[in-house]
Amino acid sequence: MTYQPQSDFGTPASRAQDDVTLTIDGRTVTVPSGTSVMRAAAEQGTAIPKLCATDSLASFGSCRLCLVEIDGRRGTPASCTTPVEPGMVVHTQTPHLQKLRKGVMELYISDHPLDCLTCAANGDCELQDQAGAVGLRDVRYEPKATHLGQTKDHSNPYFDFDPSKCIACSRCVRACDEVQGTLALTVQGRGFDSKISAGMASDNFLGSECVSCGACVQACPTATLVEKKVVEIGTPERAVVTTCAYCGVGCTFRAEMRGEQLVRMVPWKDGKANRGHSCVKGRFAWGYAQHQERIINPMIRASISDPWREVSWDEAFAYAASELKRISAKYGRNALGGITSSRCTNEETFLVQKLVRAGFGNNNVDTCARVCHSPTGYGLKTTFGTSAGTQDFDSVEDTDVILVIGANPTDGHPVFASRMKRRLRQGAKLIVIDPRRTDLVRSPHIEAQHHLPLRPGTNVAVLTAMAHTIVTEGLVDEAFVRDRCDWDEFQDWASFVSEDRNSPETLEAITQVPAADLRAAARLYATGGNGAIYYGLGVTEHSQGSSTVMAIANLAMATGNVGRRGVGVNPLRGQNNVQGACDMGSFPHELPGYRHISDVATRELFEREWGVALDPEPGLRIPNMLDAATDGVFKAIYIQGEDILQSDPNTHHVAAGLEAMECVIVHDLFLNETANYAHIFLPGSTFLEKNGTFTNAERRIQPVRKVMSPLNGFEDWEVTQKLAHALGLDWDYTHPSQIMDEVARLTPSFAGVSFDRLDEEGSLQWPVNESAPNGSPIMHIDGFVRGKGKFVVTDYVPTDERTGPRFPLLLTTGRILSQYNVGAQTRRTDNVIWHEEDVLEIHPVDAENRGVKSGDWVRLASRAGETTLRASVTDRVAPGVVYTTFHHPLTQANVVTTDYSDWATNCPEYKVTAVQIAPSNGPTQWQEDYMDLQRRSRRIAPAEAAE
Ligand code: SF4
Ligand code: SF4
Ligand code: SF4
Ligand code: FES
Repeated sequence: MTYQPQSDFGTPASRAQDDVTLTIDGRTVTVPSGTSVMRAAAEQGTAIPKLCATDSLASFGSCRLCLVEIDGRRGTPASCTTPVEPGMVVHTQTPHLQKLRKGVMELYISDHPLDCLTCAANGDCELQDQAGAVGLRDVRYEPKATHLGQTKDHSNPYFDFDPSKCIACSRCVRACDEVQGTLALTVQGRGFDSKISAGMASDNFLGSECVSCGACVQACPTATLVEKKVVEIGTPERAVVTTCAYCGVGCTFRAEMRGEQLVRMVPWKDGKANRGHSCVKGRFAWGYAQHQERIINPMIRASISDPWREVSWDEAFAYAASELKRISAKYGRNALGGITSSRCTNEETFLVQKLVRAGFGNNNVDTCARVCHSPTGYGLKTTFGTSAGTQDFDSVEDTDVILVIGANPTDGHPVFASRMKRRLRQGAKLIVIDPRRTDLVRSPHIEAQHHLPLRPGTNVAVLTAMAHTIVTEGLVDEAFVRDRCDWDEFQDWASFVSEDRNSPETLEAITQVPAADLRAAARLYATGGNGAIYYGLGVTEHSQGSSTVMAIANLAMATGNVGRRGVGVNPLRGQNNVQGACDMGSFPHELPGYRHISDVATRELFEREWGVALDPEPGLRIPNMLDAATDGVFKAIYIQGEDILQSDPNTHHVAAGLEAMECVIVHDLFLNETANYAHIFLPGSTFLEKNGTFTNAERRIQPVRKVMSPLNGFEDWEVTQKLAHALGLDWDYTHPSQIMDEVARLTPSFAGVSFDRLDEEGSLQWPVNESAPNGSPIMHIDGFVRGKGKFVVTDYVPTDERTGPRFPLLLTTGRILSQYNVGAQTRRTDNVIWHEEDVLEIHPVDAENRGVKSGDWVRLASRAGETTLRASVTDRVAPGVVYTTFHHPLTQANVVTTDYSDWATNCPEYKVTAVQIAPSNGPTQWQEDYMDLQRRSRRIAPAEAAE
């Protein structure tokens, strides 16, 4: 689309159900009650001049530019703060109003630099537009110096603050408060003399509480807060709506372009997941797409100790195909496998699993969900009948009690966290179950009613103790259970949780959660109105991950908290398209749509469409592929967009598995850590360079649209198709929409999905089919997908990973806002300014016992391995617990995580590792050797035959 600013109705839409009819400038308009006069006018096409109002913020009424006259009312009320009334007669353009508005505008301009022609926002500035709208031609007042001449703040890597251009509308302050919920900005002084300050603790943005979400920049009507890229490149000329490629929130953005250059990513107001908000990653951290380390030519090498040799695409595909065929002939077809990427589109993921099943001839395909949310798939399918969350994000607006367990949304899912915090500021209650005191426990205007700082690994015990309280205190919603669930199974479960051994008092010794707190939290969840549970990897990445998911589902069913807005069970999915990767059949036992490979009818459907016979036996999971490799029977793997060496547990074991293979094909943007063990490197394309779809944590299928041409020449689906051609498959896709059409033909829950529909509607939440033609924002409304909801007895089984004299502390891992996962993208952006290295959080008591201070190097050792990193002494973690992130390859936190995994799905137990901490002088020999290997492995010989 050519560049049009996003429409702005001045004030937010009203959610009222009843309508009001009024007259504006002689035209009749009908709007919901509670709508402002300004918005009613905008909806009928009349733009009332405004400066302090914008439709992402509550009306404020400070600039006095939006005055109107209303028959029968004295004075000139501000249209942004005046709600409509039945029969109201409003005039927006009268000579009197024009005079008043001109006067107001003159005051603003008298304290504003008159440098429009050289200003970065020239042509994209509301002050400039409104000066034109009120017909300002000259200014009668002497220039004021309230703001003029103030020092600029360039400290933030992504945006500048030039206070001399500030008109004190306070939109930025309100955006930070209302939309983001960080409250980093303050207004000092009053009226025209007000000045904006980035918090009390600092005189600049970088040193303040600001988390760089960009909401203030978006809200600013002048060039006071402006993206550095706009200053550098100029204002945009066109925009393409697409979806963020970082986390499972799935924010929609307008990629605003000037020529072929991306100027900025602006959150799209019509995006149903983000409603116009963003976090620092999606908003600003996209520079990796042009990073100098991007590999854009294919490369091959016979041995991983050789330097890489750049080759043509044809040579790369021919070599890859000959190696795959050679290995299949020599070792059998089961010696081959593939890993799909949760960073890639649904269409690309679908093709990789199709290549494995139809081309390699087996089901050895897996995905990163193996190491994150596979227990969600298992647990929710078993209890409810669908491997996905039950709600849309909007649902939180009707929640009364929010229970967050094993998730840190302010860092991991920041935009949803902002929506959640907004609801909490409106009065919803909060329960946090987490070993750490996450930001959500206490943040501006938010305080959790209950924080249960459980010992890592005891989720099931805590949830069973909550269930014990609910059942034994008579808080079960019996009508719901009798109507919607299997009553016999409920009774079995109820008598199990009621046993004394499952009481909060008995389990306190295991969970370390005071019984009284736990009982109070359980009562609040059961009786506080609409209760919604949000959970993350702190639930799934345990030896009892699947049990915990089912324990969560049990609690929701027992309290009647499923099947309507405001309630439900909501996994906060990690990567942007991990839901989609699972939907598209990335698991070795399931075809797309979660249908078991052993099901004859389903298999025949795919066999007819694909023209091949499919292996009815489930294939190998990632850990089994690595085990088989070290056993000498698994020899070749195609890995698309996944850095298993850094992201999977027990790094030494992953390295040994990869090293034992004869053909490792890595298809990625950068020479990642896994590529150290690769023989063939196929360059990947970024989300900015491709068409397709991502599916977010709400089951929302959203368009990804090409913003620029792929640097390497091909979108990732094209690369997979060319590899398939080299192997002799006759695929003939010319556009990813045809792949989605095939998915829709083969997958009942996607039956009504097509690119055309997505372009029309913006997004669709699966299932989209005959019974839900417009998609399914809320699941299980009239009954569970599986029929009756299934209660499952979830006995607490302690992990085999035990602390003891050698390893007395428990390590748990997580993320930080500015970095993403293994950091391949975010480490190649200015986000490193906030997180240059992984650090180890340790409680003051544990630190003192070991003579460790903040900033010291420490050795972190477990039964699996050891690494070193710097310490941060903090009481955010409980005594006995240490915590770190895993964003940096030098740290390789997964060197210490073990092979223990979820009993049902093999999801690794990242969140519980027994460790010891000791002072250290710096990196271990292992880290030194590793970095040396990395340096050697990244040698590239001069190109001989590159295209
Ligand atoms: S960027 Fe976000 S967090 Fe920072 S001041 Fe602006 S609104 Fe607040
Ligand atoms: S910085 Fe921008 S948004 Fe904030 S008060 Fe000044 S002009 Fe308004
Ligand atoms: S919250 Fe997630 S999807 Fe949204 S902008 Fe941030 S990283 Fe992207
Ligand atoms: S826009 Fe209404 S008072 Fe500023």
